[in-house]
Amino acid sequence: MNKSLVVCVALCLAQWVSAAPDPTNCDTLDPAPLDASVEYEAVIQAIFTGGPTQDAKCTACHSPNTSGALSLAPANSFAALVNVDSAQDATIKRVLPFSATNSLLFRKVNCANPGVGQRMPRNRPPLSLDEQRLIRDWIDQGAVFRQRVLVNGFE
Ligand code: HEC
Repeated sequence: MNKSLVVCVALCLAQWVSAAPDPTNCDTLDPAPLDASVEYEAVIQAIFTGGPTQDAKCTACHSPNTSGALSLAPANSFAALVNVDSAQDATIKRVLPFSATNSLLFRKVNCANPGVGQRMPRNRPPLSLDEQRLIRDWIDQGAVFRQRVLVNGFE
């Protein structure tokens, strides 16, 4: 066998072995963005935290006081998610900017079998399709904390 082919096979195999398992049974979402510039605090954090009329969908478990490795409380969530390896499978980031499909956070809310652990919110009804799309859109738009506000072309 040709040497470069052997190297390629070895590298490709290493790539395959080191990738987090593919998710299955994912909800089909409308490919168009629901919101062209998703705000982290107002939109994404609000999904995690809930509100006066809404259950704390994620922070009920993912708070600094719980034993979970991931806190989704407002003071911690952004830094705990973006470009941070999953605590359970270091071959996937919790949030990989510009790639929702390669981010465990999105897989966890979008897929009945996310590949790593269970669907979130755990033991509760899945997030609505619109909530899933907002998380997808935020990641695909670069997973920034604040969108740049352009006034007459200047920041
Ligand atoms: C009933 C408790 C509970 C709720 C509610 C919950 N989680 Fe989780 N979450 C867990 C547990 C336990 C784990 C670790 C096991 C697993 O991944 O299944 C986990 C793991 C995760 C992980 C993977 C962390 C890592 O580093 O591997 C993410 C991301 C996550 N949850 C996001 C969410 C989001 C977003 C919500 C709300 C939509 C949510 N969770 C709601 C208990 C919960």
